[in-house]
Amino acid sequence: DKGNYRHFMAKEIHEQPEVLGHTLSRYIDFGARKAAVPGIEHAGFDKINRLIISACGTAYIAGLVAKYWFEKYARLPVEIDVASEFRYRETPVSDGEFALFISQSGETADTLASLRYCKENGARIGAVVNVPESTIAREADVVFQTIAGPEIGVASTKAFTCQLAVLAVLAVQAGRIRGTLSAEQEASLIGALTEVPGYAVQALKREVDVERLSQSLAKASNALYLGRGTNFPLALEGALKLKELSYIHAEGYAAGELKHGPIALIDENMPVFVIAPHDSIYAKTVSNMQEVAARGGRIVLITDAKGAAESGDTAGNVVVMPDVPEIVAPIIYALPVQMISYHTAVFMGTDVDQPRNLAKSVTVE
Ligand code: M6R
Repeated sequence: DKGNYRHFMAKEIHEQPEVLGHTLSRYIDFGARKAAVPGIEHAGFDKINRLIISACGTAYIAGLVAKYWFEKYARLPVEIDVASEFRYRETPVSDGEFALFISQSGETADTLASLRYCKENGARIGAVVNVPESTIAREADVVFQTIAGPEIGVASTKAFTCQLAVLAVLAVQAGRIRGTLSAEQEASLIGALTEVPGYAVQALKREVDVERLSQSLAKASNALYLGRGTNFPLALEGALKLKELSYIHAEGYAAGELKHGPIALIDENMPVFVIAPHDSIYAKTVSNMQEVAARGGRIVLITDAKGAAESGDTAGNVVVMPDVPEIVAPIIYALPVQMISYHTAVFMGTDVDQPRNLAKSVTVE
């Protein structure tokens, strides 16, 4: 049931404050301001020297964000790859390692094959899945369920942000277990995550701005997305969503890679989305933006009030997001990224919930 929405995707985008709340409440002890992930002991975070993550599509992008978190907060190196490569790479996996698989459906063939490869090689298996009775959930030693509810639209939206929410809490708790976060640091990170549903409500209020700029985007045949740090995977997500829903060719790049190739593409017809909250590396992204502006690229900057003020008139369009703590940014900035592809697709008249050539769950290779 779509309720009052035109598409399942719109409904699922708007459900995010609620389902993020449900998901976080399963993994956080709000009163104590502590991460409290049931079953986390299966991961052996105090013993392992690296974490393996594998998944496909948007779930893989959630894993890429998690790599930044586990490395920063838990000082745990992360080995991550798309499952279609991981399963055939013959990468060494040994007894006692921990491998995490992320999947909305829990039925993705390549992700399942990667899980089995790790299991056969003696690793313990964790799964971040949305469907608890799925094959991946059944074969895992420990399941960290996302409480996103059924996701009908082919594009992953609420499942993605709920995956991020679970992974953020896991990384924080891993940090406590490994002694790399103090109790104060944990309380402040968990406090920030507690505010996610409220920030999501504020982010959804940007929909009018996003809808307006999506109409001008609908005329483009290419687009570029740029971001740094945890917002680099979001650039990949923006490009994936735009391709999948509106069939506009798009690429996501780490902002610093711009001058190593993609800058050659920039002209007056190229929309460039810059996903950049005002964080410790914001100034670097501004200088990348200036390089784009100097070549006539049409910049859409997604940032906060401080970032907007510091960007001067470099960006033709600015989407002003709520001011959020760093750990929360990739979760909240996912919302405008989703809304851009949604509105562009609606404007172009494509089949939003069931884009051509795509299946919700890829159960064959
Ligand atoms: O069910 P899964 O999370 O394992 O699916 C993985 C991908 O097929 C999926 O995220 C896909 O990339 C989405 N259509 C993206 O919106």
